[in-house]
Formats: sequence, C-alpha cells, structure tokens
Amino acid sequence: MKHPILIDTDPGPDDALAILLALSARDALDVVGITTVAGNVPVAQTTLNALRICELAGDLDVPVYAGCDRPILRPLHTAEFICGKDGLAGMKLADASRAPAAPHAVNAMIDHLRQSDVPLRLCALGPLTNIALALRMAPDIAAKIDRLIIMGGARDLGNITAAAEFNFFVDPHAAAIVFDSAIPITLFPLNATYQAVASTERLGDLDGTAPVQAQVLSMLRRNRAGGAALGGDKGHPMHDPCVIAYLLWPDLFEGRDCHVAIETAEGPTVGRSTIDWWGRSQEPPNAHVIGALDADQMFARVAVSLRSLDHRHESDSKAKS
Ligand code: BDR
Ligand code: CA
Repeated sequence: MKHPILIDTDPGPDDALAILLALSARDALDVVGITTVAGNVPVAQTTLNALRICELAGDLDVPVYAGCDRPILRPLHTAEFICGKDGLAGMKLADASRAPAAPHAVNAMIDHLRQSDVPLRLCALGPLTNIALALRMAPDIAAKIDRLIIMGGARDLGNITAAAEFNFFVDPHAAAIVFDSAIPITLFPLNATYQAVASTERLGDLDGTAPVQAQVLSMLRRNRAGGAALGGDKGHPMHDPCVIAYLLWPDLFEGRDCHVAIETAEGPTVGRSTIDWWGRSQEPPNAHVIGALDADQMFARVAVSLRSLDHRHESDSKAKS
C-alpha cells in the first residue's frame, strides 16, 4: 500500500534531495502536500525552492503551501553561509511555472490531516514552527498523525552553536511543543545524519549527464566546503534525506526509545536537545531516536531513485515530442 505523507521543509540543499527522493518513490509514497517554513533561508525563498524542486522532479501535482515566516518567539536565524543566498547554491534550476497553493501551510496541514481517511506520516525537515502551531490550533490532528519523523537535535555537539542543532536552535519553543505532544516520533539527530556524508565514493553511481542527477551532483559538490566546516570531512552530511530513506528502507536504520527534552531558556544552550540515550532519567521515552544507519547502502539506493526520476524525464520528453 502507498503511504500518504506530508513534508514540512525549508529547502535547503539536503531538503531538496529529500524531496526528490520522496517524489521518485511513487509506488511507495503518496506525497499529499509540501509545506514550507522559514529556516535555511526566508520562507518566500524556501517556498520558491520547493516549487522548483517539484518541477525538476517533473511533478506539478503536489501542492506546495507557504508557511510561517519566523519562529514562534525568537528572531529568525538563517543559514545562507552554508546554502548560499537562494538556499540551493550549486543547483541551477528554472523558475517554477506555478504559484504556491492556498491556504497557509498551517491550515493546509490541519485540513489534510482532518480530511485523510487514514493517519498520515509527517516528515519534518526544518524548524518545527508550522507543526507546533498546527497542533496548538487543532489538537485533534495529533490522532491523525501516524508518525512524525523529524530531523533535528544532537546527542553530542550542535552544528549551529556548540550546544544546538540548527532546526531546534531556530525554533526551540516549537520543538518543545512537538516533543510534548505524545505523537509517535522518530528522531534523526546529528549523530545519525553525520553518518550520511555525501562523499565522492558514495556519489560515484550518479550520472552527471542526466538532468536530475547532474543538479544533485553540482549541489553536493558546491556544499562540500560547508560540510567540512561543520564536521563532515569528506562532504556535506545529507541530514534530511535520511528521513525519507527511513520511510522507504527502514531496514537500514537502528535506534532506541529515549526521552528527549528541549532547552528553551535563552543562553548558550538554547535549542539544545537532551537525549537520554542511556535511560538515566525517570522520564518515559517520547521518541525513537536513530543512532546508526547503513549509509553506503542508503546512497546506493538513492542513486537508483534519482536514476528513476531521470528515466521519467526522458519518457516525458519523448511523449511531448
Ligand atoms: C538541518 O539544518 C538545515 O540546515 C538542514 O537542512 C537540516 O534540516 C541540519 O542541522
Ligand atoms: Ca532542512
């Protein structure tokens, strides 16, 4: 059975690859909508980027809804120093041929969840602002979320401050609301996603002459310097694609149930996730936290998925000519 999913995202190079991966898997995933949020770059740009990525995938049917332009309480921090001014540095994408859909992403998320016959899987690839607000506005939707799969947090050091990972640092209050929601959560912290470095060897299977693969290669090569600066020594870690890969290939991932707490107080540790990996506290687990993955196998399967998008491109162009 195809599983319906909603993707909440702030593209962002690794978000872009995650969206491409999800759209390549038409037989396994039904992407019912993409909601955008401010994060890597402001929301006007993350929305344009989501539309451009759908276009690259040849998918004009998935609605893209624009969401919150700032975190719940804190000022917005963005990451152009990694992603470039337009958020997708390295990719040269055509402008989108369509506009974002109405309504606002938070309302769209509520509508999709309420109207779905079956519970949806919700993939969170950016700051959790939209999701937290949707839960506050419509608490009944919690029962319609089959599982929330989140990229965020860290068991050890952060990547945007010494203590915090970027997505939770940008909107710690939203993250705290989400971890308090009792929704089944799978969490991909940096300890897991740093294992998914897009190294030269792992990219060897991609064909630089095919349109989708060429864009991905040029984006990943452009981001290598940023990856090195943030701890990956061989390339940029593909944080967000892990979330989609987990839905497609759960056999590649291992984790354990833990309690996760988010620091919301201003100061040097704001946005830090305290992940009780060893179960030291008396707190009950509120997330399944991924600790290990088979990254070589993941990249091999991602390459197959991207090739399938290029084949789709080829057959669409043949059909048009
Ligand atoms: C996360 O922050 C963003 O910059 C990436 O897209 C990813 O979601 C990694 O810390
Ligand atoms: Ca992201």
